[in-house]
Amino acid sequence: MKTHTLLMPLDMHLHLRDGAMLETVGPLTSYTFSGAVVMPNLVPPVTEKEELLAYRQRVLTACGQSRYDVEFDDLMEEEGLGGDFEPFMTLFYQNYDREFLDDIKEEIIGIKLYPAGITTNSEGGVKSFDLDAMRPTLQAMSDLEIPLLVHGETNGFVMDREAEFMNVYELLAKNFPKLKIIMEHITTKAAVEMLERYENLYATITIHHLLITLDDVAGGMLQPHLFCKPIAKRPEDREALLKVALDAHPKVMFGSDSAPHPQHAKESCGCAAGVFTAPIALQLLCELFDRHGKLENLQAFVSDNAQSIYAICPEFKEVTLVNTPFKVPEKYGNVVPMYAGKTIGWSIEGVE
Ligand code: NCD
Ligand code: ZN
Ligand code: ZN
Repeated sequence: MKTHTLLMPLDMHLHLRDGAMLETVGPLTSYTFSGAVVMPNLVPPVTEKEELLAYRQRVLTACGQSRYDVEFDDLMEEEGLGGDFEPFMTLFYQNYDREFLDDIKEEIIGIKLYPAGITTNSEGGVKSFDLDAMRPTLQAMSDLEIPLLVHGETNGFVMDREAEFMNVYELLAKNFPKLKIIMEHITTKAAVEMLERYENLYATITIHHLLITLDDVAGGMLQPHLFCKPIAKRPEDREALLKVALDAHPKVMFGSDSAPHPQHAKESCGCAAGVFTAPIALQLLCELFDRHGKLENLQAFVSDNAQSIYAICPEFKEVTLVNTPFKVPEKYGNVVPMYAGKTIGWSIEGVE
C-alpha cells in the first residue's frame, strides 16, 4: 500500500453554480481543497461588487455544510466540513473603468473573459476583440495587477477553436506585457507552445483533458458526461498537456473546470457542456502521476505553482491519498460525475 500527502491543494478553475447545486457541489471541493478560483458565469453573470460579495458569502455558507446522501458524505461529515476553504472570486469580463477596478481589486483574484456565446452561460461575453475598446480596462488591470483569465476559443470549426485563438492570446500578451494572462483549461499542443513564447502567459489544465481524447467522447457510443468546452482533442495534444503537467512546468496549474449540470441537462437532446470531476480530481491526479512515476511533481502542479503565479497563501490543509480502489458514486445529488460507477486506483485516506 502506498500513500501520498498533498499540502493545500488548489483548484484554479472551478464552477460552483448557485442555490441547490452550490449546496451539493461546494462541500465536495472544500473537503479536500484549500481554495478554488470560482468562475463567474452564473445567470446573470457576476459583474458587480455587491453581487460578488453576496455570492462569496453563499459559497462560504454552502462549503460548510453537506446536504445529500452518498457514501462519500459520511466520510466528509466525520472530517468536518468548511472553515478552511477559501473561494477566490472572479468577475465576469466587461469593459470596466479604473475606479471600479481599484475599488474591487482586493475582493477578486482575477477577471474572467469569455468570448460571447462560446461556452455555458457566456452570452454576455466579448463579441469582438477590439483592442481599442478594451484597452482602458486591460491597461487598468495591468496597472492594478489584476490577472486576466481567458476561455480561449474562436467560433470556428470545433476542433480548431483553441488553436485559432492563439492569435488573440498573442495580441493580448504583446500589447499588455505586464498583464498576467491565464489561458484557461488548455487542450492543445498549440497552447502549450505559447507558454514558452510570452513571459506573461500561464495556463490551467484539467484532469479530464489529461486523461481523455475526442475518441473517449465520441469514438464509440456518445458519452455526454465527457462532453465539455473546449472539446477533448487529439492524442498528440493530450501528450503535450501531459508532459507539462507531469513535469509541473512552473507556468501551469491544476484547474479542474469541474462544471456540474443536472443529469437531465446532460442526458438530453442538446447536452450541456461540462464535466463534473470535483470529488474525484485528486484521486485521479494521484493515479495518473503515480502511473507515470511522477508523484513527486504533483504538489507543484496542484498547489505550489498556483501559489507562486498568483502570489496567494492558502489555508492549511493536508490531504492524504492511498492507492486503494475507490468506486465513483453513480451520482452526487442530481449530478453524474466523470467515471460514475467505475473504480479508480486511489482514494482519499484523510484530511487534516
Ligand atoms: C463550463 C460550464 O459549464 O460552466 N463548461 C465547460 O464545458 N467547460 C464553462 C467553461 O468553463 O467553459
Ligand atoms: Zn471555459
Ligand atoms: Zn470552466
